[in-house]
Amino acid sequence: KSIVILISGRGSNMEAIVRACAAEGWPARIAAVISNRPDAAGLAFAQSHGIATAVVDHKAFSGENRREAFDAELQRVIDGFAPDLLVLAGFMRILTPGFTAHYAQRMLNIHPSLLPAFTGLHTHARALEMGCKFVGATVHFVTAELDHGAIVAQAVVPVQAGDDEASLSARVLALEHRMYPAAVRWFVQGQLAIEGGLVRQTAGEN
Ligand code: GRF
Repeated sequence: KSIVILISGRGSNMEAIVRACAAEGWPARIAAVISNRPDAAGLAFAQSHGIATAVVDHKAFSGENRREAFDAELQRVIDGFAPDLLVLAGFMRILTPGFTAHYAQRMLNIHPSLLPAFTGLHTHARALEMGCKFVGATVHFVTAELDHGAIVAQAVVPVQAGDDEASLSARVLALEHRMYPAAVRWFVQGQLAIEGGLVRQTAGEN
């Protein structure tokens, strides 16, 4: 299977997936890492691991149809690598319905909250404001609606006294680095099916 990963910045989830793919001998390869920002730190990691990289800069698109035009160019570049799976890893762009339809059932995202709570930005700050006792992260298939789509995996951490946004996001990020590679691995091993809008996970070899 061929995987393309989209990033916008640090790329620590991308890094975790690249490392797990190599270390665990997945039946898959990371065909490319693509960023919408030329200065994304994660691009250097991908290049240093011999992975093809590309930049599709959203700032190059303006006007009324800029989102459609950006997504069309992004799709053209992605499909040049013929991916079986598209992985969003800290990719900070809202996607158009045409784009999400094109990759339906073969595009995953990780979101730093226990969906359906706290879609959108600043999830940890909002959870702290609400006095949440537990927070977490969700891996889900991507649909046209932001941070919706069939849930593949969730993981939970407790909120501790004195936590701030930084401490909480660090605790959740450590969890993301374990759960996202696991979810991608399930996909490339053919263990994920969507039935009636929900993910059904079938048994794998391990
Ligand atoms: C992660 O917290 C992820 O859940 C969210 O954006 C952040 C990306 O971090 N979607 P990184 O670029 O993978 O380090």
